[in-house]
Amino acid sequence: MPVPAFETISCEFEENSGIGRITLNRPDKLNAISSTMREEIHDALDWFAERDETALYEDDEGVAVHVVVLEGAGEKAFSVGVDVDGFKPSNPGVFDVSRFYRRIEHFPAPVIAKVQGYCLGGGLELALACDFRLASADSEFAFPEVDLGTMPACGGTQRAPRLIGPSRTKELCMTGERIDGETASSDGLVDHAYDPDEFPDRAAEFVDQIADRPPLATRAIKDSVNVSNDSPTHVGRRYERRAAAALAETEDRSEGVSAFNEGRKPDWKGR
Ligand code: COA
Repeated sequence: MPVPAFETISCEFEENSGIGRITLNRPDKLNAISSTMREEIHDALDWFAERDETALYEDDEGVAVHVVVLEGAGEKAFSVGVDVDGFKPSNPGVFDVSRFYRRIEHFPAPVIAKVQGYCLGGGLELALACDFRLASADSEFAFPEVDLGTMPACGGTQRAPRLIGPSRTKELCMTGERIDGETASSDGLVDHAYDPDEFPDRAAEFVDQIADRPPLATRAIKDSVNVSNDSPTHVGRRYERRAAAALAETEDRSEGVSAFNEGRKPDWKGR
């Protein structure tokens, strides 16, 4: 299955590691998110999902998607947010984009945002919809919407409080305060901030750690933790037990146990 060509993003899949990459590719506009970009990210995720179906269920020799990395082209920005050219009250479409962010949140495989440079507004909301955020310590994070007379509308006021609490979320959203990657990490908005010189290598190590794990297990973990956001604990516990029971039936579970007993590295099949 050839990787499709896009106008505003680029998309790659590494067959040996199962790592998919989506790069926001409008560096001259600091990777501002246009409606075309949103559609193309959707299409890229569809392509990964289709690619995955073939690998997981049609028993070919292909590799399932173990992880998707989302990053920005160039060194200046992950993304400066929603393209302000489409940011008009007469364009209601811009206020109806939460489906796009949910698609990332609920994409079966883990999605990692790799942030270098500006990560503002809708760009920050995009990073928040991912499972992990890795940042260069000199990146810049903010919700600047308030200074445009508006507010985060792509899940920012819902996802940020789970990471940094309601008061800090209100402070960032109401003041538009800009914080660097280091502060974002100590606040809990990003998972890891790395020295800028070490960022590419350290981020790659983190991505490999997840990509080296059995994909059905990492997916089940993602799904089960996501359920905890929206459900009472007793429902989540039941969900977790069922997910673990389903994993117990997989080839990867047998392979993990055999590899442990034989003292070798497991060879995950994603089945
Ligand atoms: N939408 C569309 N285009 C944007 C954009 C956005 N959100 N943010 C920046 N750009 C464009 C600029 O118009 C400029 O394009 P041009 O060269 O064709 O004129 C290009 O990106 C570079 O931006 P510029 O402002 O010249 O870069 P800078 O380094 O001086 O400043 C920022 C960078 C991020 C401080 C500044 O661009 C900014 O504040 N952007 C708005 C961020 C924002 O409010 N985002 C919230 C939207 S939800």
